[in-house]
Amino acid sequence: MKPFKPTFPEFPHMLHGGDYSPEQWRETPEIWDEDMRLMKLAHTNEMTMGIFSWAEIEPSEGVYDFSVLDTLMDKIYENGGRVILATPSGSRPHWLADKYPEVMRVNVQGHKERYNRRHNHCATSPAYRERVRIINEKLAERYKDHPALLGWHLSNEYGGFCYCDLCTKKFQKFLKEKYGTIDELNRCWWTRFWSHRYDSFEQIEPPAPVIGEAFVQGMHLDWKQFNSENIIDFIKEEIKAVRKYSDKPITTNCMGFNPEIDHRELEKHLDFFSQDEYPLWANGITVTAERLAFLLDYCRGIKHGQPFIMMESAPGIHVSAMRFKKTKTDKQQLLEAVKMISHGSDSVLYFQWRKGRGAHEKFHGAVVDHYGKDDTRVFRNVAKVGTMLEKLDDLVGSVVNADVAITFDTPTRWALNGSADIGDWSDNGYHATASAFHAAFYRKNIPVDVIGYDEDFSKYKVVVLTVPYVMEQPLADKIRSYVENGGVVITSFLTSVVNSNDLCHLGGTPALGLSDVFGLRVDEIDTYRPFDQDIAENYVAYEGKEYKLSGFAEHVVAKGATALAQYTDEEFFSDGALFEHSFGKGKAYYMAFQHDTFQNALVERLIKECSLKTPMDAESDDGIIIRRRDGEKKSIYFVTNETNEEKTVSFPKAYRNLMTDETVSRTQKLAGCEFLILAEE
Ligand code: GLA
Ligand code: ZN
Repeated sequence: MKPFKPTFPEFPHMLHGGDYSPEQWRETPEIWDEDMRLMKLAHTNEMTMGIFSWAEIEPSEGVYDFSVLDTLMDKIYENGGRVILATPSGSRPHWLADKYPEVMRVNVQGHKERYNRRHNHCATSPAYRERVRIINEKLAERYKDHPALLGWHLSNEYGGFCYCDLCTKKFQKFLKEKYGTIDELNRCWWTRFWSHRYDSFEQIEPPAPVIGEAFVQGMHLDWKQFNSENIIDFIKEEIKAVRKYSDKPITTNCMGFNPEIDHRELEKHLDFFSQDEYPLWANGITVTAERLAFLLDYCRGIKHGQPFIMMESAPGIHVSAMRFKKTKTDKQQLLEAVKMISHGSDSVLYFQWRKGRGAHEKFHGAVVDHYGKDDTRVFRNVAKVGTMLEKLDDLVGSVVNADVAITFDTPTRWALNGSADIGDWSDNGYHATASAFHAAFYRKNIPVDVIGYDEDFSKYKVVVLTVPYVMEQPLADKIRSYVENGGVVITSFLTSVVNSNDLCHLGGTPALGLSDVFGLRVDEIDTYRPFDQDIAENYVAYEGKEYKLSGFAEHVVAKGATALAQYTDEEFFSDGALFEHSFGKGKAYYMAFQHDTFQNALVERLIKECSLKTPMDAESDDGIIIRRRDGEKKSIYFVTNETNEEKTVSFPKAYRNLMTDETVSRTQKLAGCEFLILAEE
């Protein structure tokens, strides 16, 4: 993959900074000047402003006061910084909710929310959309040519559901457009079951325990798709208003693997992807690093490998309520920053620059504490991160190249999650299955892209399909031809079981021709539960080791595939537990059971069979992770010790340490959580 153009061509540097709310210090403008001084000392170059400023910039309808933003945009620029400016729709002023009550959500219990919290507007409300359009246009018109302006940050962490009448009507319209006739909808939702036929679109209410239907899975899927599309539609209107005046790059800050929005649909409307992430290192270094790595690879995959912006993270403690929260050690703070940039972030940004005095989140980590000075541990660590990023301009736009891809598909999660038939194997199961594979490659230093089904599979030597339960013919054909042409695919239990309405495929699974590709048929789906009394424990035996089952285990009839592993319980009828099948020029693996560590063994096999390469030809202890980003001019290597113990790494040749500008000796000992950032000499 080739490097990308910098997201902000006029400022091709790694961004370092974060959320700044100067309106909280309106009465003490000397604090703004102090912030400018501290900004330089902390080696920051970016401030994200205006996220929650609506009541300040429009104190009553149609009355505007941009004085704080004007002042700070100028000051930040004069001090060498840049601004990502937010639209304020993430939190509305009181007057707005009072005057236009329809903007407040109706919750899942059917109750209309009074003015409270944030992020809880109705995404359908025309009154809200109109107020947002007006304020966005005002902001874009005013700041479009400001030299501090880098780009736009729409709203804040969109998500959630609204069950108001406006949303219900819009859902009905969505269904009418999708299905055409009520008969077609009834067919696709299988409503003859329990006599649940709908006579008209107007009868349909969103699925919810109290107000609507909860047992028609096809409806669940459509509701989740509708909600995601409705939020994206709201976002498109926000973009249109900004674009009327400004052509600067636009993003919105997303949260984790948030299943409420299909990020792969959202991405089509954004210039770059951005993410908020708060790793909790106190959970254990290795496990936290692995989880973070999976998320970061997911972020990079959303925009097909383009670097993303890490929009929020915590300097020090991540907290909204104090009890039992942990801060980070010095090394953890630095390691977190290195992890982010090594997986494709072109920034390390924080929530937040300065701690507020009250209301909420007043103890949340910030670059500047209530103490107000620069001689704090957190400030020093932030400054160290800044110093590091200043040496890494070459990273901007650079990419991660991977031979392995793992699919992660939000509509499939919708189908698995909340399905009465799948039971309590909820969304976490989908995530856990994908992350177990990711971690297995990660521990062996094999880079992975986390991709959508729309990505070109032929770029990869290996594609792992995460529980591809929902299957339509085009995807089945894509998998088939990938393998036919030499690709290696791995799938799991629950492959190609239902269509996109959650109607089971007839004629056996894996359906739609995939039975041929994998050389087998699933005869029965079974599960193991931790509390089973009268059932023999069952294990999967593979290469002299046994792996205890808990969760899904399928009974499989082989039709050409070779069993590589067997279930140990002889009464559990199956031709095997793990299968391999040559198909065309490629190979298809089927893992018929659920597990979270067996993947380590399978990945070792794949590394050998597919000659998968690490980013650098080094010899290293377990726990040393090596990543590489490839840029226009050079490749940069990140060697991190993601344990608390000392580890050793031996390099194949001499490298330059980009932080010290010294040549690194061939064998290095790295203390726990330490890292090296290297380039070829
Ligand atoms: C989110 C929000 C921020 C803040 C942080 C606290 O990411 O976007 O406004 O509430 O959480 O961690
Ligand atoms: Zn609504």
